[in-house]
Amino acid sequence: MPRLVDRAPTITGAEIAAELVPPRQFETATFESYRPDDDFSSQAVALERLRAFAGGWGPTKSRGLFSRAKKAPAGKPGVYLDGGFGVGKTHLLAALWSVAPGRKYFGTFIEYTALVGALGYREAVHLLKGASFVAIDEFELDDPGDTMMMTRLLSELVSHGSRVAATSNTPPNALGEGRFAAEDFLREIQAMADNFETLRIDGLDYRRREIEGHAVALPDDRLVAAVEQAAAAGRRVTRDSFADLVAHLGSVHPSKYIKMIDGVDVIALRDVRQLSSQTDALRFVAFVDRVYDAQIPVLASGQPLDAVFAADMLAGGYRKKYLRAISRLVALTSAASA
Ligand SMILES: Nc1ncnc2c1ncn2[C@@H]1O[C@H](COP(=O)(O)OP(=O)(O)OP(=O)(O)O)[C@@H](O)[C@H]1O
Ligand SMILES: [Mg+2]
Repeated sequence: MPRLVDRAPTITGAEIAAELVPPRQFETATFESYRPDDDFSSQAVALERLRAFAGGWGPTKSRGLFSRAKKAPAGKPGVYLDGGFGVGKTHLLAALWSVAPGRKYFGTFIEYTALVGALGYREAVHLLKGASFVAIDEFELDDPGDTMMMTRLLSELVSHGSRVAATSNTPPNALGEGRFAAEDFLREIQAMADNFETLRIDGLDYRRREIEGHAVALPDDRLVAAVEQAAAAGRRVTRDSFADLVAHLGSVHPSKYIKMIDGVDVIALRDVRQLSSQTDALRFVAFVDRVYDAQIPVLASGQPLDAVFAADMLAGGYRKKYLRAISRLVALTSAASA
């Protein structure tokens, strides 16, 4: 049975660039398929503002030969979607991407930092420059190096005419807070924030509208049976111990996790336990993000996967990241046992 710990892929700048499109589950996301929740008016407001932003690219539907596109209001070159988990931020970002004309990119923050890491800053700018639209999902300023690089990259792209959009669980002016000495970078963060119109999206976790509150943990014998059943059905299942996987994640750069799970249909993890190190926890979050993007169901035994983050972690600066991972783990484990 294949194991994830045996996979230590390499990834090139060209490969990262080729992946700069929305994840499969968002390929069909449109403004029309986004259903604003009547209980949270910010959702309808965000949808309207995003349609107006897209209006800057001209009409998305033909309005007849002689009609002219309404001129877009001279707004900011960027929009920033800030909100809780599962409220449809990525859905809206992908919808915006889908109506952008010409050359355009869609990636997570981590993919853009990996691109710069693999190609070098100049080459990465050269690749992205001149695009009509650059979408950055899961914008996070976790460290000073990324902050300098990303604020510089964004201002360079914007000054060459690209429009940008970002999603985050943190409003732009609070980026970095509780994580590093953000006050040393206030000028950069503020300059970047000035390029964005911030849209706050409130709401309930859409993934949890239908799902019970906990990640599913199976008894060991049921895990074995479920793995065998999936394999017998021709699905590619990997089987790892949770502790081994977490150790392995420390030896692979997070930008490569996407390739580590390439071609996998089901992930089985046995002996899930609470994590004691924040570094391990953050790597595991990055891994969960990629598994979620790829929509790979997860079978697990031991502690429920939503209990792996210790209380002190949940109370710290990365709280929202952990909560997002929990929301995703609940969805992934219930998909596996459905
Ligand atoms: N209002 C909505 N109408 C239709 N589908 C929605 C809506 N909100 C969310 N969804 C769907 O729910 C799922 C979760 O939404 P999405 O991933 O866009 O949320 P998110 O805000 O990006 O969450 P996260 O903070 O985890 O990144 C997606 O499949 C998305 O298409
Ligand atoms: Mg998202």
